[in-house]
Amino acid sequence: MTAIALALCRAGFEAEAAADLAAIARTARASIEVDPTRGAAFVVARLPRHDRAAWRRAVTVRPPVFLRSHFTGSGPHLIAVGASTRPDRIAPLVAALAALAASPEHAAPWLAPWIEFADTNEGKALSTLARALDGRLASALRERGLVAGAAARRPHVFLVDGTTSYVGTSEAGTGSTWPLGIPRFALPRAAPSRSALKLAEAITVFLGDRTDALLHMGQAAVDLGAAPGGWTWQLVARGLQVTAVDNGALAPALARDPNVEHVRADGLKWRPRRPVDWLVCDIVEQPVRIASLVADWIATGTARNAIFNLKLPMKRRHDEVERCAALIRDRLDAAGIDATVAFRHLYHDREEVSGCVLRRR
Ligand SMILES: C[S@@+](CC[C@H](N)C(=O)[O-])C[C@H]1O[C@@H](n2cnc3c(N)ncnc32)[C@H](O)[C@@H]1O
Repeated sequence: MTAIALALCRAGFEAEAAADLAAIARTARASIEVDPTRGAAFVVARLPRHDRAAWRRAVTVRPPVFLRSHFTGSGPHLIAVGASTRPDRIAPLVAALAALAASPEHAAPWLAPWIEFADTNEGKALSTLARALDGRLASALRERGLVAGAAARRPHVFLVDGTTSYVGTSEAGTGSTWPLGIPRFALPRAAPSRSALKLAEAITVFLGDRTDALLHMGQAAVDLGAAPGGWTWQLVARGLQVTAVDNGALAPALARDPNVEHVRADGLKWRPRRPVDWLVCDIVEQPVRIASLVADWIATGTARNAIFNLKLPMKRRHDEVERCAALIRDRLDAAGIDATVAFRHLYHDREEVSGCVLRRR
């Protein structure tokens, strides 16, 4: 059976997801066949010739932007066998996963399996089946010694429908943070806008287990395009002092907060008197203008780190992100600044991507 890579994405972003997989394949010198279906919210790529170790390295070197969750493995597998009213799906899934475990690239022990499906109406109709299979599959894999407590790899089952699935594994650290790549964050009542969840997701995805070291009480932040204040609220909740720049109004409670200074100004031109630890920016502008702005703040030492959003209404969204990433890297290289530059199409992002620049020193 031909090896596959399977990736989940937001519906409508299949071409971008396919471009991400093709870029990983180029870096890994793998051959790839991919023909994305618009609106499917997932992409399957056939990998007739690939080296899993090289693929894994390529994912680390060139992290995908538009993939919510992704793995390499095998399929499609027919998973509903036996009496059609109550087919046994566990046995064929265990067999497919056990066959993978026999190859060194996918070797167990594994973390608990994730059962995933597309983020579409048809996909969501599979959530009850996924829940029913979840515990039973984990027990069956544990009995076979394939799932153990601590492990570096996670097995995935992707349900295409009730009878067909793909299986595979991802590496902890380069896979998704959540099943389906969907965080389950509740919006706190006090948050002025749903955008607060976008920054919460960006912090989790980009900072991970370094969050407390990198973003903490006592730091100063600037929020460009802050109104009504979801991002500012998120930073204040973490103990930061925030200058919120926007000609629009902040939510009244936030405007009264002693840790918030509201500046009515053009965020594309305004600069603070003293350098700050964090720049966050959610201004709706051309992506290249925002990328240049962020690069300028970091290159001049005006801010140490940044989280920002690039609005992507154009067709060539993948190319536009690459262009902005190159622009920021070039500017920081020229200034002799050692930093990581990362982009992700987060679950809470719509026609946009989130970016993060973190100085290493
Ligand atoms: C998407 S909203 C920001 C939402 C905000 N992050 C939140 O969590 O509530 C974009 C904001 O950018 C502001 N904006 C647009 N152009 C701006 C500029 N040049 N300078 C400052 N703010 C700007 C708008 O007034 C608007 O409030």
